[in-house]
Amino acid sequence: MGDTEDRLDSEISTLLTEERSFPPSEEFQRLAFVRNGDIRERSWAEPEQFWANAAQGLHWFKPFDRVLEWDPPNAKWFLGGQLNASYNCLDRHIKAGQRNKAALIWEGEPGECRVLTYWDLYREVNLFANALKGLGVAKGDRVAIYMPMIPEAVIAMLACARIGAVHVVVFGGFSAEALRDRINDAQAKVLITADGGYRRGQILPLKHDADYAIKETPCIEHVVVVQRGNFPLRFKEGRDHWYHRLLEDADPYCPPEPCDAEDILFILHTSGTTGKPKGIVHTTGGYMVGTYTTTKYVFDLRHDDVYWCTADIGWITGHSYIVYGPLAAGATCVMYEGAPNWPDRDRFWQVVEKHGVSIFYTAPTAIRAFMKWGDEWPARRDLSTLRLLGSVGEPINPEAWMWYHEHIGGKRCPIVDTWWQTETGMIMITTLPGVDATTPGTAGLPVPGVRATIFNADRKEIKTGGGLLAVTHPWPAMLRGIWGDPERYKEQYWSKWDQETYFPSDGAKRSENGYFTLLGRVDDVLSVAGHRIGTMEVESALVDHSAVAEAAVVGIAHEIKGQAIVAFVTLKEGSEASSSVEANLKEHVVKKIGAIARPERIVFSADLPKTRSGKIMRRLLRAIGEGKILGDTTTLADPTTVEGLRRKYEEQEEA
Ligand code: WT7
Repeated sequence: MGDTEDRLDSEISTLLTEERSFPPSEEFQRLAFVRNGDIRERSWAEPEQFWANAAQGLHWFKPFDRVLEWDPPNAKWFLGGQLNASYNCLDRHIKAGQRNKAALIWEGEPGECRVLTYWDLYREVNLFANALKGLGVAKGDRVAIYMPMIPEAVIAMLACARIGAVHVVVFGGFSAEALRDRINDAQAKVLITADGGYRRGQILPLKHDADYAIKETPCIEHVVVVQRGNFPLRFKEGRDHWYHRLLEDADPYCPPEPCDAEDILFILHTSGTTGKPKGIVHTTGGYMVGTYTTTKYVFDLRHDDVYWCTADIGWITGHSYIVYGPLAAGATCVMYEGAPNWPDRDRFWQVVEKHGVSIFYTAPTAIRAFMKWGDEWPARRDLSTLRLLGSVGEPINPEAWMWYHEHIGGKRCPIVDTWWQTETGMIMITTLPGVDATTPGTAGLPVPGVRATIFNADRKEIKTGGGLLAVTHPWPAMLRGIWGDPERYKEQYWSKWDQETYFPSDGAKRSENGYFTLLGRVDDVLSVAGHRIGTMEVESALVDHSAVAEAAVVGIAHEIKGQAIVAFVTLKEGSEASSSVEANLKEHVVKKIGAIARPERIVFSADLPKTRSGKIMRRLLRAIGEGKILGDTTTLADPTTVEGLRRKYEEQEEA
């Protein structure tokens, strides 16, 4: 009884919270880069004109003669134009008198600090670009990057961009097998890695893992190893090269390769509903214009800001808002190697205090963890330099939003809740911090130049209320395809309605004031700690284990991670369920994918609930996982399965 009442109370308070509105302070407004929201209406009416103007902020070796060629679902932006991403992130600022400005302020987890000015970064990128050329890397070749969060990761990306090579960054937390599959998918020629990196006081043995991966990647010709620590490793002469040795012999200047606007800048893999990760393709001109422009509009960057995005460069957030957007905008960026709770739970706030961070961009899963750790951790640090906060990766619940606002932002910083995806390349829906009032848990409006709306399944527009998010016009940083799979590109993103409307697979609702609130994925993709993980990917990893006959994976609500993975597993004849099998299976998933995909729980069952047509009833498994009341189960082939499963789950829960 008490339980129901509690729930009612919290639902009511949630409703009340959503009514709250936080306008920017007069001071913030007065100094903001964008002070007038009318720019949005104009840009939505004429997006091409808006983006053509925005593109003038970058340096083009050859001006473009056409803004957009739209042959649905294929878009080409800035045709005829030539530019170089590394030139725009480095040379341009050096020529403009900014060579002594800090580009990267790097904090290692053990506590060391390195500051690279724009000149320093320029010099290293040039040297390394020449070293890559020396290894035979040419324009269009793919280069895999498997690195900890150290400056050389950024240098490697920009060095690839400088010579027109395509980088394929693989998150350092992914397993050797995940690395192998991505290298093979992209057919990368060179792998750049490090002896290791630090995470929560432990060493991530990257080169060691990479050695396993490249046993099965015949395409890799050379491996470059950055010496981060003095971590033990094996070296294969002829194939493996120390990064610092290569730089010693390299020429200091590497002319930036003029790239066509539609030349590929990078491939980044992301999870989809099938087992195989998709290599999302981004090209140079549109991506650079999109990330540069949104960095300025959304983060309100000023000359003396210290900007910190806590993402890893292995995700799109790191690509767009640690590297390309902020560096193209000439920002000073903080980069931190390790965990937020190392050596203590105030590490982030110590970094903010030490470097005077003014713009801070992180994920709801981190905010929820801070909230749980307690108010005293941020309270013991001076956070008064902060002036703008951001959130990305998943919906931010109003409680976490309010905590962020009060305990990190000191009630004075606007919060930009930014909705976007690996595929969109750039921020798509948020508030403009100097213009709009914010509402906890609500992202806001499409950014200038982006047209988005909400449709129902029949493409009827939903003015207020819930439905499916849709992007109705191409935007410059949009994905250009899935590497090696044009059919899947069409099918996955452009087939929901009319082949001209992009479907991101997110649910959304629109309020009276037009603001969009994101409601989460509508497909079988989980959001665990802000990272997309396909249920199929985890299922494939489980079924790959010799003891497993069948597996079904669902996401259930989790206090900090947003969603946690629960796997329902049927073992093969002759295998007995036990806690050691459970531990083995979890480790197996870690080995196949990486620690982010480790199931929170494994429930063993003799069979899985299926519809008469043989489809696993995930909705039901989710309801069981969350301990909710079961709905109508009469369409099940064998209704007793569910009863058994549900009881079993509860028994395990109690144990
Ligand atoms: C999915 C994209 C884009 C960088 C990190 C994730 C969810 C992202 C928000 C937000 C609600 C969000 C969506 C989206 N998402 N930002 N502000 N509010 N949901 O990139 O791995 O490509 O995942 O993350 O579901 O589709 P990603």
